[in-house]
Amino acid sequence: MRVALLGGTGDIGEGIALRLARDTDHEVVIGSRDAEKAERRAGEYVELLGERGHDVAIEGYSNSEATATSDVVVASVPPEYAVGTVETVADDLDDGDVLVCPATQMDRDGDGFHYDPPAEGSVAEAVAAAAPDGVPVVGAFQNVAAGALTNLGNDLAADVILTGDSADAKATVGDIVEAIDGLRALDAGGLANSPEVEAITPLLINLAMNNDGMHDLGVRFQ
Ligand SMILES: NC(=O)c1ccc[n+]([C@@H]2O[C@H](COP(=O)([O-])OP(=O)(O)OC[C@H]3O[C@@H](n4cnc5c(N)ncnc54)[C@H](OP(=O)(O)O)[C@@H]3O)[C@@H](O)[C@H]2O)c1
Repeated sequence: MRVALLGGTGDIGEGIALRLARDTDHEVVIGSRDAEKAERRAGEYVELLGERGHDVAIEGYSNSEATATSDVVVASVPPEYAVGTVETVADDLDDGDVLVCPATQMDRDGDGFHYDPPAEGSVAEAVAAAAPDGVPVVGAFQNVAAGALTNLGNDLAADVILTGDSADAKATVGDIVEAIDGLRALDAGGLANSPEVEAITPLLINLAMNNDGMHDLGVRFQ
């Protein structure tokens, strides 16, 4: 599979790109609003992995070009820009492509972080409303901290919860997730169940903020 990370120049995009390139045979493409930035960041990721003895290829393009040439597209941009970003690449998505939404929308007050979903119920559902017909959306990666992925010395042991209305799309994303060492994909049902998954993220951050020695928390169900 060819996997595009829109906004893959940022934190979670970097983490997913590094792990995919290091652990799997999937082709990894970094997308950005600025193609030169994508190319530069892709080069940095290749260099970083090269220093650790991994000879990999990662390409960088505009979000639009990255989408047009990929099978699976991860909208790894801040939640408030997820819908807008999907709208800008809608014409580049083909029937059968899979769109992945890792976003969680939160606000913060004196007590900590709180889930603050959009009117559609969750970011994943808002993205699905903006996606072209024939392009299923899968919620995934919301509960994996970027730092846990980018720290390549960290042995992962985490679950990635999937939501989506297309069993085939969830299977595609699940296969990609499980190709990354230490990640297990779990099916949490339809896209309408995304709020429950997205709402775990502020809990993880609040736990990290209030407990010494805890950072970059994830979930593992057993
Ligand atoms: N950080 C985490 O630990 C983590 C974990 C799980 C899930 N997530 C989710 O992953 C998503 C990305 O998080 P992040 O921490 O990686 O974000 P980030 O580093 O702040 O931003 C990611 C990329 O988004 C692009 N971007 C910024 N402003 C934009 C705009 N106005 N319109 C379109 N694109 C814009 C930028 O790429 P270009 O400038 O190159 O276009 C940026 O590098 C969020 O929805 C978040 O909820 C994050």
